[in-house]
Amino acid sequence: MGHVDSDSSLSASVKPRGVLGALRIVCERNGHCRLQDGTQVCFRLIEPEDVAACAAMLVACTPKSLYSRYERVVSEPLDELAGRLCCPDLQTELTVVAEVSVNGTSSLIGVAQLLTDPSHEAAEYAVLVSDPWQSKGLGSAFTDCCLRLAHAWGVGRVVAEFLPGNMRIIRILEKRAFDLYRDMQEHAVSGQKRIADEDADRPVGAA
Ligand SMILES: CC(C)(COP(=O)(O)OP(=O)(O)OC[C@H]1O[C@@H](n2cnc3c(N)ncnc32)[C@H](O)[C@@H]1OP(=O)(O)O)[C@@H](O)C(=O)NCCC(=O)NCCS
Repeated sequence: MGHVDSDSSLSASVKPRGVLGALRIVCERNGHCRLQDGTQVCFRLIEPEDVAACAAMLVACTPKSLYSRYERVVSEPLDELAGRLCCPDLQTELTVVAEVSVNGTSSLIGVAQLLTDPSHEAAEYAVLVSDPWQSKGLGSAFTDCCLRLAHAWGVGRVVAEFLPGNMRIIRILEKRAFDLYRDMQEHAVSGQKRIADEDADRPVGAA
C-alpha cells in the first residue's frame, strides 16, 4: 500500500513502523506553515487523546461552517462527532489536525480528512478550519499537506464535493489544478485531481 517506500531516505527509517508510521513522518516533515497573521501551525495525524481538543475546535465553528463541511445540519453532540473523528479506520481514513500553541497552550484549529476505498484508487478530501482561523491561509496549507499524504499513501485520485457558493474551497482547488464540475441538480460542485509525483514536492502553504 502506498508510495512511502519510493523515498529511499524515508523507507530506510520507517519500514519497521509500517505505513501509518511512514505517513506520520510524511506529515511531520511537511507539516509546518506560517499563517498570514504570523501564527506558526503544526500538522499531525489525529490521536485518540485529541477528543476534548477536537470538540473545542468544533464548538468554535459556526453552524454554517459545519454545514459547508458535512453538507447537512450537524445535530449530534459535538463531542460525539469529535470522538468519531479521533478514532479513524486506519485502513481507509487519514485524519490530520492543525495545532497551534498560544501562550503555551496547545489547541486544534482545523481538521482535514482523506477517506479512501481499500484499493486506494480514489480518496475523498474534506477540510474544516474553525471560524476564528479562516481566511489566513490554513485551508490552502492543509490541502498541500493532504496532497502530499495522498501521494505517499498511493492514492490515484483525490475528489472533493462542496456547495457551489464556497468560493474559498473553489479557489484552493482551482489553484491546485483540480477539475471542477458543477451539478446543478444536486446543487453541489465536485472536483477531482489525479495525484502525480509533483504533488509529493509541493511546498506546504505555497500559493
Ligand atoms: C473552505 C475552508 C477550508 C478554506 O480555508 P481557509 O483557511 O479559510 O482559506 P484560505 O485562507 O486558505 O484561502 C483560500 C483562498 O480563498 C481566498 N479567500 C479567503 N477568504 C475569502 C473570502 N471570504 N471570500 C472569497 N475568497 C476568500 C483566499 O485569498 C485564498 O485564495 P488565494 O490563494 O488566491 O489568496 C474554510 O473556510 C472552511 O473550513 N470552511 C468551512 C468548511 C468548508 O467549507 N470546507 C470545505 C468543503 S469540504
